[in-house]
Amino acid sequence: MKTVKFFPLCMLLLPFVSCTQVAVDKKEAAMDKKIENLLSRMTLEEKLGQMNQVSSYGNIEDISGLIKKGEVGSILNEVDPVRINALQRVAIEESRLGIPLLMARDVIHGFKTIFPIPLGQAASFDPQVAEAGARVAAIEASSVGIRWTFAPMIDVARDPRWGRIAEGCGEDTYLTSVMGAAMVRGFQGDSLNSPTSIAACPKHFVGYGAVEGGRDYNSTFIPERRLRNVYLPPFEMAAKAGAATFMTSFNDNDGVPSTGNKFILKDVLRGEWGFDGLVVTDWASANEMVGHGFATDSKEAAMKAVNAGVDMEMVSYTFVKELPALVWEGKVKEAVVDEAVRNILRVKYRLGLFDNPYTDEKKTDILYAPSHLEAARQAAVESAILLKNDREVLPLQPSVKSVAVVGPLANAPYEQMGTWVFDGDKSRVITPLNAIKNLVGDKVQIIYEPGLAFSRDKNTAGIAKAASAASRADVILAFVGEESILSGEAHCLADLNLQGAQSELIAALARTGKPVVMIVMAGRPLTIEKEAELASSVLYSFHPGTMGGPAIADLLWGISVPSGKTPMTFPRMTGQIPVYYAHNNTGRPATKNEVLLDDIAVEAGQTSLGCTSFYLDAGFEPLYPFGYGLSYTTFRYGNVRLSSKELRKDDVLTVTFDLENTGKYEGTEVAQLYVQDKVGSVTRPVKELKRFTRVTLKPGEKRSITFELPVSELAFWNIDMEKVVEPGDFALWVAPDSQSGEEIPFEVIE
Ligand code: NOJ
Repeated sequence: MKTVKFFPLCMLLLPFVSCTQVAVDKKEAAMDKKIENLLSRMTLEEKLGQMNQVSSYGNIEDISGLIKKGEVGSILNEVDPVRINALQRVAIEESRLGIPLLMARDVIHGFKTIFPIPLGQAASFDPQVAEAGARVAAIEASSVGIRWTFAPMIDVARDPRWGRIAEGCGEDTYLTSVMGAAMVRGFQGDSLNSPTSIAACPKHFVGYGAVEGGRDYNSTFIPERRLRNVYLPPFEMAAKAGAATFMTSFNDNDGVPSTGNKFILKDVLRGEWGFDGLVVTDWASANEMVGHGFATDSKEAAMKAVNAGVDMEMVSYTFVKELPALVWEGKVKEAVVDEAVRNILRVKYRLGLFDNPYTDEKKTDILYAPSHLEAARQAAVESAILLKNDREVLPLQPSVKSVAVVGPLANAPYEQMGTWVFDGDKSRVITPLNAIKNLVGDKVQIIYEPGLAFSRDKNTAGIAKAASAASRADVILAFVGEESILSGEAHCLADLNLQGAQSELIAALARTGKPVVMIVMAGRPLTIEKEAELASSVLYSFHPGTMGGPAIADLLWGISVPSGKTPMTFPRMTGQIPVYYAHNNTGRPATKNEVLLDDIAVEAGQTSLGCTSFYLDAGFEPLYPFGYGLSYTTFRYGNVRLSSKELRKDDVLTVTFDLENTGKYEGTEVAQLYVQDKVGSVTRPVKELKRFTRVTLKPGEKRSITFELPVSELAFWNIDMEKVVEPGDFALWVAPDSQSGEEIPFEVIE
């Protein structure tokens, strides 16, 4: 037939290879050829230049000189499109080989349009929120010429004292894996070489979330099994999602700083996962191995980092300075340098920088596009968690004719953006106060009296005024929490109670006898037990970003219905930390009937107080468990059925259940599937989240929902450090949070 000769060759090879695969392979082969050609023409200095990332901060003269000499591979912290193009022009037109620069920036939860902090996004349990947020961030950041972000941060973290808890997805390995992969997809889009794609950089590889005492940059001690079972999976998932780059972490784990850790960088990342992108250090973390006492000087630090598998160094210049001698002395093989340069050039090539190095300087009208603001608002709606709602004070009804808007976070545009917003503009932020005025200002009297000027304000002078103003209102809306600078990098806290005089403010408001709705904007779970008791309702919004105000106003008046769930356990008091749901069982698990401090008689003889694992002053339960969150409506779970109660390792377990909206409002429930491996060759967590889904139901609507779980996903790294499913007894729960639901047994057989 005539048409046959026009068939691409790959069609004839079907079903063995697809056309797309052939096209990809062809492109990759062309890329490899180009890279090898370039490498063969590069001097050692030019190679080391590619491995050097410098920070700009607007200082383009000095950097231009370095670029011209081929001594810079990447620049971070330049966001002006004109300057970005100017620097790129120097690289392309004035350096000997014309290799394009890779422009980087920390675009963590938005570039201009700021989304809720990642911990807030995680509370949505909605990967679409994460993907949309990253997509918007990529579109906005790439419009000024940024093609690389240092995100997502997917450090599993179980200590809210750690300021960086704000930047990640919380305590759970599975939730972090799902949200992290969604962010990678959002940043990188359909194809890296689209001009609106930016390379993702999962960080911090690895274990940084486990810093001792929640103090930033501190050491970690994570044995290999826990590393593999808890901390590595989100990174593996991000690599599978195609993340182009990875960043090493600051911490030393069991004595080995990540930047010099061959096991994680070579054996695991490249060897086991087949990663072929680039690995960058964290800020000066190569040279900081001297501070760690892991290297005598910057020369040894550079040697250890490069030999361990680092490709690019962020800002500390030890590679460019020290590697010439190290290569000459044979302490670092030139082949190792070549491999690093290949990894870097590959990312530049895949981003399309060799063909399209410049950005369109006039394309900035995309910033704060209406669709971006709408996505940010939706994200803020889904991120808010209703923790308490006594007497159904929320949603506010038309009978509420006046509200008092109180508290230091009610009208604090800068603070509500949260940490890591280098480029966010507070003048574009809509605060709750302004949003409430816009929404109901014509129908409801709004009495604004902040009481405190900022979250750390200890001056109690304004509290009486606020309480007296509040006593004239039908309902009090108290906006408390943390300023943005109290979380994020290097901003850790040893005390998680509300700062300043906020607790006194809540107490004074409660004394008015009017219902208090407490809205908490913070970068972490705070210990709010006392204040939550005084409030009728508690809505936890984390730092909700540019559109936080409208989202919260909609939630308060029931235009939207809360659906967020806690992405980490909320402790009652700081001393309970670490408190997380997926802990291993002890030989003496706590029950609900422990003897607490006030139950002990004076001069009581020593007893083992019930012989279980708990605190005398805090019991063992948290304030709110992982996965917890209320709605304005109610949901009933029932009729859970399993495809089989006896499964083999290659089966897929199907769990079906009925979910019914038993309340008055349409609402969305995050249904969760937890599993426990009852007995293992090593002790196993009491529960692990394995699946979740958001289900929207009208009042009275009932739907049958199915989770599919391949039995292979019950595998874990066992006593022999092998990832296997161990046959035996299991249990599962289909539940609205990590502490409820009915236990259902099943078995995995050989
Ligand atoms: C240090 C932080 O740890 C890292 O997360 C960030 O991406 C770099 N600085 C660059 O700003």
